[in-house]
Amino acid sequence: MHADNLKLGVNIDHIAVLREARKINDPDPLMALGICAQNGADQITIHLREDRRHIHDEDARRIIAASPLPVNLECSIDPEIIRIVTRLRPHRATLVPEKREEVTTEGGLDVIGKYDMILNAIKMLREAQIEVSLFIDPTHEAIEASERLGAEWVELHTGSYANIYAMRYSALPHSHHAIPELHLSRKELDNRLEMAYSDIVDAANAARSAGMKVAAGHGLNYHNVSAIVSIETIEELNIGQSIIARSVFTGLASAVSEMKALCRR
Ligand code: PXP
Repeated sequence: MHADNLKLGVNIDHIAVLREARKINDPDPLMALGICAQNGADQITIHLREDRRHIHDEDARRIIAASPLPVNLECSIDPEIIRIVTRLRPHRATLVPEKREEVTTEGGLDVIGKYDMILNAIKMLREAQIEVSLFIDPTHEAIEASERLGAEWVELHTGSYANIYAMRYSALPHSHHAIPELHLSRKELDNRLEMAYSDIVDAANAARSAGMKVAAGHGLNYHNVSAIVSIETIEELNIGQSIIARSVFTGLASAVSEMKALCRR
């Protein structure tokens, strides 16, 4: 099926990251809701991390109550967090793997190893009438397990694609973290980029054929997003870091509307 209208979910966690740098009330992520909605966003995405390093429970509560757009709440599969999410009642819960020491969500859910725990989380969320998405690596094994788990959505992790894209095309070092493949030739990077991209295409098509809705996200920015937009079986992108980073210079309104323009098919 062709998903004509690619939806843009804006992840506003980074506004709370800035607030937490000072542990004060400013900037308030709630202020982003209207600006995102007026500038083409289709969804607000937030992550209630177990360590509450950016979005707090009270933020989630206020955002869900006030948002003119559906709220997609990312969370771990820990039963205590799932219980909190069932009380918060977002429109959708996206289950993500979580490690305390990570800077950001580094890989997809272990849908095979954690199958029973995920099944339990899905059951609890269903009972609370919350739509469920699984954040997974773009592999056939993960798609098959997600289908067996009965997920309505999968969100494909685009981090590998984004990292290789940055190594291939960015004039600036992409990250402060060591990138082990930095010595790779352009040809090797081209090959790896093609492989990472075709994994996403294949996974999106397989998930769609299995009857699931397909989102994608992580590491997407104003340069690397167009190739992902062209994958017709993907119907939604969730993008945070690059939009909030640009908004520091241009304002949130234009950062969102420029990304939305790139999402048009
Ligand atoms: N989707 C999921 C499931 C995520 O965990 C994140 C990061 O919080 C994003 C999308 C957005 O990633 P980025 O901030 O790199 O755009």
